[in-house]
Amino acid sequence: MQNQVSESRKTISSRISNLRNIEPKDRKDLIVQAAQLSQEQSVALDGEGALPLELANGMIENVIGKFEIPLGVATNFVVNGRDYLVPMAVEEPSVVAAASYMAKIARDHGGFHAHATRPIMRAQVQVVGINDPHAARFKILERKDDLITLANSRDKVLIGLGGGCQDIEVHVFEDTPIGAMIVMHLLVDVRDAMGANTVNTMAEMVAPKVEEITGGSVRLRILSNLADQRIVRARVTIPVEALDTETLVGKDVAEGIVEAYVMAALDPYRAATHNKGIMNGIDPVIVATGNDWRAIEAGAHAFAVQDGHYGSLTTWELDNSGNLTGTIELPMAVGLVGGATKTHPAARAALAMMDVTSANELAEVIAAVGLAQNMGALRALATEGIQKGHMALHARNIAIVAGATGDDISRIAEAIVSAGDVSVDKAKELLATS
Ligand code: MEV
Repeated sequence: MQNQVSESRKTISSRISNLRNIEPKDRKDLIVQAAQLSQEQSVALDGEGALPLELANGMIENVIGKFEIPLGVATNFVVNGRDYLVPMAVEEPSVVAAASYMAKIARDHGGFHAHATRPIMRAQVQVVGINDPHAARFKILERKDDLITLANSRDKVLIGLGGGCQDIEVHVFEDTPIGAMIVMHLLVDVRDAMGANTVNTMAEMVAPKVEEITGGSVRLRILSNLADQRIVRARVTIPVEALDTETLVGKDVAEGIVEAYVMAALDPYRAATHNKGIMNGIDPVIVATGNDWRAIEAGAHAFAVQDGHYGSLTTWELDNSGNLTGTIELPMAVGLVGGATKTHPAARAALAMMDVTSANELAEVIAAVGLAQNMGALRALATEGIQKGHMALHARNIAIVAGATGDDISRIAEAIVSAGDVSVDKAKELLATS
């Protein structure tokens, strides 16, 4: 695929040991060094002043300030043979640690293999006020070439990059509360953009012609977030021995992961939580890179229910050699150009840290993170349960809420974990007495 971003590739190692045991400032220096970031990018990652109020004010309306959340970096990721440091903006403990740990297990066994389809977005044009929807559909399809030419007549840059409207579909809804309706879809290759503005503009542009052709009235002209032609797939294979724990052999852990997947595949109540765990990995990268996480969430869940049954976005199986093998498949409408990806200095620095050269490559890494996150959650659920590890990491939050500062945060966090009582009351008690 032709790229709009043409920086030369760096050689980055995502294997940085001991990162979790050092101070944030030193940690950031290590990441800046590993990702070969500039001074400006380094400052942007600090958070403080990274988004000037004036810039924020230009991004949305009625700005009164900025809302900060932690930015972490997941290490160890290898996707398609390449190392990636993965920025994650998220408030939930365990997420970054779990992704990094699963990526560490995976990297010893070839890492993740991922592939994104062409970045095709759909725009929908709703046509009402027609009694002959089937004939109207044919009339549009007969004029397909003219409509595609019209849709592509404005954005010369996109066409120059090899993108643009490629095809047209017409969906018929014969009997609706508002009479017959057709919905025309423009299928547009948006290259390295998320594509919302591109396809919305095209839909609005062709609307008068569609009215002329069908004799109907056009109403909505807007993208679909069910980007089912812009799919990313990732897979991973792990020998079961790599999953050994202190108390369980890896084979049992792998079987537990498969059993957990089967429940998600069959039971929508479980699938919602299972997929939430996947999005725990995906959303933080979407946020950190300035992409539209609502669009990704909408697309993911609509895709998960596409066959009429809400199921899992991942699969987990044992292959013929007994290895654990996982896959993930979902729409991934992310961009490298436009919107906050370009205006937010920290998002630009986050993208520089990932050193991706196309939106498809970004999508591939994000899918790998989603799969790693799901593996981490299922592994924990299939073994000791989620709370032990989660609470150990959450203990720092609890210590802070109880009033601990400086060195006391780690001290009290460790003390409440070993006391087996990760609560604010216990933390307050220990703060007062020790
Ligand atoms: C918590 O944020 C996510 C999990 O509930 C996901 C899962 O259950 O698979 C642990």
